[in-house]
Amino acid sequence: MGRKTRIALKAGIWTACLLPLAFLIYWAAIGDLTVNPIDFITRTLGDWTMRILLASLALTPLRILTGAAWPVACRRLLGLFAFFYAALHFGVWIVLDHFFDWPEMLADILKRRYITVGMLALVLLLPLAATSTNGMVRRLGGKTWQRLHRLVYCAGVLAVLHYLWLAKVGFIAPYVYAAILTILLGVRLWGAFRRRLRESRGRPAMAQNVTASGARPLRTPPS
Ligand code: HEM
Repeated sequence: MGRKTRIALKAGIWTACLLPLAFLIYWAAIGDLTVNPIDFITRTLGDWTMRILLASLALTPLRILTGAAWPVACRRLLGLFAFFYAALHFGVWIVLDHFFDWPEMLADILKRRYITVGMLALVLLLPLAATSTNGMVRRLGGKTWQRLHRLVYCAGVLAVLHYLWLAKVGFIAPYVYAAILTILLGVRLWGAFRRRLRESRGRPAMAQNVTASGARPLRTPPS
C-alpha cells in the first residue's frame, strides 16, 4: 500500500470516527438532545463504541478473506477510537449519571450484570490502548503483544453481552451485533485453523531435510 493511500485511509477513519461526536456536540449546542439528554448521550456513545469495536474486529477477518494488506494498517487507529468512545461513554456514566457518587457506582457495578460486563469490557480494552504504541510492541515482543491483543475478542463478547442484558426483550440490534461478532470470530478461527494446517504440512518436509543431510533443517517455503 502506497503512502498516499495510507494517509487517505487514515484521514477517512479520523473523519468517520469523529463525526458522531461532532453531531453530539452540535445537538448539545442547539439544545436538541431529546427529553432525556443523559440517556441519549449515554446510548449514542454506547452505540458508537460497539460499532467501532466491531469494525476494528472485522479487519483481520477481512484480511483473511481477501488477502489485502490495508485492513491491518487501520486496526490500531480503529481500536483506539473504540477505546476513546468507551471512555467517553463511561465518563458520562460517572459524571452525569452518578455525579461521582463512588459507593453508588460500586453498588451499580456489583448489582447490575450489564454494568459488570460493560466494566469488564472497558478494563480489557485499557491494556490494549496502553500498549498500542510502536515502542510497546518492541518492548513486549511481537508474539506477546499479539497474544495480549487477542483480549479484544473477549472485550467484544462482553460488550455484546452488556447490550443483550440491558436491551428490552425483543429489541433486535443486540442480536444483530451478536451475529456479526459470531461470524467474525468464526472467520478468525477458520483462518487460524488453515494456518496450522499449512504449518503442519510444511513440518514433515523440514524433518526430511534433517535426516537427509544430518544438518539443521532448511526452512521449507510456505505452500
Ligand atoms: C466496551 C465497552 C462498552 C460498550 C461497547 C458499550 C455499549 C453500549 C451500548 C451499545 C449501549 C446501548 C445503546 C442503545 O440502547 O442504543 C449501552 C448502554 C449503556 N451502557 Fe454501555 N458499553 C460499554 C461499557 C460501559 C460501561 C463501562 C458502563 C458503566 C460502567 C456502561 C454503562 C451503560 C449504561 C448506563 C447504558 C444505558 C442503559 C440504559 O439506558 O438502560 N457501558 N452501552
